[in-house]
Amino acid sequence: MTLSRRGLFAGGAGVGGAVLLGVPGVASAAPELWAQPGSLGAPPVSGLHLQFGADASKQAVVSWHTTTAVARPRVLLGSPDGGFGQVVQAGTTTYRDAKSGTEVRVHHARLDNLRPGTDYVYAAVHDGAAPELGTLRTAPRGRAAFRFTSFGDQGTPTLGKLSNGTYVNDNLGSPFGGDVTAAVEGAAPLFHLVNGDLCYANLSTDRIRTWSDWFSTNSRSARHRPWMPAAGNHENELGNGPIGYGAYQTYFSVPDSGSDAETRGLWYSFTAGSVRVISLNNDDVALQDGGNSYVHGYSGGAQQRWLEAELKSARSNPDIDWIVVCMHQVVISTVDKFNGADLGIRESWVPLFDRYGVDLVVCGHEHHYERSHPIRGQQPNDTRTPIPADTKTDVIDTTRGTVHMVIGGGGTSVPSNALFFSPAKCRVITAVGPTDPNTGKKAPVYVLEDAPWSAFRDRDHAYGFAAFDVDPGHPGGDTTIDVTYYAVTGPYGATTAVDRFRLTRPRRS
Ligand SMILES: [Fe+2]
Ligand SMILES: [Fe+2]
Repeated sequence: MTLSRRGLFAGGAGVGGAVLLGVPGVASAAPELWAQPGSLGAPPVSGLHLQFGADASKQAVVSWHTTTAVARPRVLLGSPDGGFGQVVQAGTTTYRDAKSGTEVRVHHARLDNLRPGTDYVYAAVHDGAAPELGTLRTAPRGRAAFRFTSFGDQGTPTLGKLSNGTYVNDNLGSPFGGDVTAAVEGAAPLFHLVNGDLCYANLSTDRIRTWSDWFSTNSRSARHRPWMPAAGNHENELGNGPIGYGAYQTYFSVPDSGSDAETRGLWYSFTAGSVRVISLNNDDVALQDGGNSYVHGYSGGAQQRWLEAELKSARSNPDIDWIVVCMHQVVISTVDKFNGADLGIRESWVPLFDRYGVDLVVCGHEHHYERSHPIRGQQPNDTRTPIPADTKTDVIDTTRGTVHMVIGGGGTSVPSNALFFSPAKCRVITAVGPTDPNTGKKAPVYVLEDAPWSAFRDRDHAYGFAAFDVDPGHPGGDTTIDVTYYAVTGPYGATTAVDRFRLTRPRRS
């Protein structure tokens, strides 16, 4: 089943046939549907989605997009029992896609002073459009139980490019990019972390269409719970904004980190319960040339300075137990012939993760699932090999080291779960050379290392997501996060649990 669906899809065959009729998301792929005007001539409310503010117990943003100007974009906010009582005006941000010349307008309504741990209903609307409905649950304030989820590297399950008389996907997508969304929504997390490489618009013929497809695919979940992103190398689009993230920075309204307009939204943090989530953009420090343009070092150290201050602040905050980092490129990976780990991240981030005791890192970039033992410190070798602090795989004390999870099976057509080294080894990019005329990229220099930090690898499944169940515990005791990696094994969010473990640490108070 898995191979036949992927095979049919990747080849672009079978369009309109029985197989694709059963594939979630494909029905919405017809190009005329997403731009269909509203009943009064205004464009519809498209791509409805949520973000949390810095304080997830009281702040959220409702967002949607159009490609023409609209009047009075706004959100009607209320409670499930009381209806829509409050009107919040939305602001509009724009970018003009350098490839198509199309201007995209994204409307963001900022909700503040919400009540913690509370269910809301809302409707997003602008003049002439039919209201689109969503729901929002705010985070609890203080220590309370909740669930969050994570994956990266999704693509879209849609067919966006006409080639030889048939529609094909040209942004590394597969039907599983829709199935994982159904699975996440079935898990009903408080929020979902997207670990970069969202829709691969920088590969597609029509970038605007690809972003629209991604939001259309995921709105069925992201309009009910914030999908909080980290930018990956495939969010780097030639000509869009000064660094290439103009589309990403416009579609999302993430918490303000005090950065300048050029880097706005590329790194940020938010707090949910006793968890501080920190989202990073690794293209700043990774050595690999993976985007439309090589932007290594673009922040001039600003992101690193912010990260250190943020980590220091979080670790000294008695209300924060857990520090979770969401980012894209990886510190650990045990597959061959894929991207590999990146020395730039090991040198820039890992010493800070060690110094301030980051508990968990979720990332993507490699298109499979694996995790590390808790790591602390690095060998003094050419690859700065992480040192495992412990080798227990079921219950992990994160005060001893940081657990890294590669969760890159979000739905692409190029999974890497069949490429594991056996026994585990790691290819580390330690430098880049001149631009290779065949690829247009700076050629990576790889060094192979042993991987004593490798704890679990899923060879058997290409796609999936991880669920994290936070238990605050009791004063004077431990707090825990129960982690389950679910492989997504079929349509409509069918899952199989393939890895379970517990993270534990003492409560701060
Ligand atoms: Fe990817
Ligand atoms: Fe990537």
